[in-house]
Amino acid sequence: MLIVNNPNDNSLLSTLELSRSKKMADIAGKPVGSGHARIPLLGFGTAVFPFTASETMKESILHAIKLGYRHIDAAAIYNSEPPVGEAIAEALGLGLIKSRAELFITSKLWCTDAHPDLVLPALRRTLKNLGLEYLDLYLIHFPVSLKPGSCEVPFEEKDLLPLDFKSVWEAMEECQSLGLSKLIGVSNFSCKKLQDLLVTAKISPAVNQVEMNPLWQQKKLREFCNGKGIHVTAYSPLGGRGTLWGTNRVLDCKVLQEIAQAKGKTVAQICLRWALEQDVSILVKSFNKERIEENLEILDWKLSPEESQKIDDIEQQRGFLAPMFVSEHGPYKSLEDFWDGEL
Ligand code: A2P
Repeated sequence: MLIVNNPNDNSLLSTLELSRSKKMADIAGKPVGSGHARIPLLGFGTAVFPFTASETMKESILHAIKLGYRHIDAAAIYNSEPPVGEAIAEALGLGLIKSRAELFITSKLWCTDAHPDLVLPALRRTLKNLGLEYLDLYLIHFPVSLKPGSCEVPFEEKDLLPLDFKSVWEAMEECQSLGLSKLIGVSNFSCKKLQDLLVTAKISPAVNQVEMNPLWQQKKLREFCNGKGIHVTAYSPLGGRGTLWGTNRVLDCKVLQEIAQAKGKTVAQICLRWALEQDVSILVKSFNKERIEENLEILDWKLSPEESQKIDDIEQQRGFLAPMFVSEHGPYKSLEDFWDGEL
């Protein structure tokens, strides 16, 4: 298949690529929130560790848009907002998309800004970084606050503070009311933390973005979210190999390797197809052109019931424990506390 090498030359798009882009665009995604919004099924992650923006990041995002990805996931802490903004501007300039409205752009509130009076200024900064007038989705990144200050990791244990769920969520609701984000949601929230939030929320979180892959299937959380009308988006669908929060265990899993080999697919494709079949949306990160393309090839085949059962039976283990948020001086004294037993 022809791969586009020159991002400035649209004419090089092969018929196949155009038809795939159309196929992706045709997948309008899942309804999300209480209005008419839809979230694309397959999205593009931008988190790399250490958190630094790069030309490769921008080029990869542009390439992903060219191939048909429509959801781009950024975060203040990833430093990925400026390259996402540049890639969107270039995609518009090149005519890869007709308008910004064709994209679904997510970003996240970092913990240093998870204070009622800092949420709106943080979102305005995010929008400035992206060069956009609105986000499609703004998420509270973690259920914890940090002493206000610069947005960076690592941070000091003494800076960990309890998140004021009620007031911070009210500030998020204001962001939505002002039209600065079409939808609001959370990330890394357990069932209990969602439940606590729902007690006072006037607008329910549209999305909970969480780690999810065949080794951490999130059955309990997904059931809870389904019952509350909260859409689940899966991050680290391949286990986030090579990151601070990632593990090789997913791509090295024997059961997945056997299924992949027998089916003539890659382990990554098995993971992504499995996630799609669980009725969630997915964010997958790759800055490699072949793998960006490989990860799209999951739409026109299915897992058999036997294959799904084998994946269902895989022993479960959370990959990202987030130990940096646990401290005897902070609001969460143990991992048990932080994840409310969902370990
Ligand atoms: P790369 O950017 O070099 O492709 P996740 O989406 O679960 O966070 O996983 C991201 C990691 O998995 C990145 O290190 C990425 O590396 C790698 N990756 C992405 N797609 C594939 C693939 N199809 N096969 C193997 N590794 C992949």
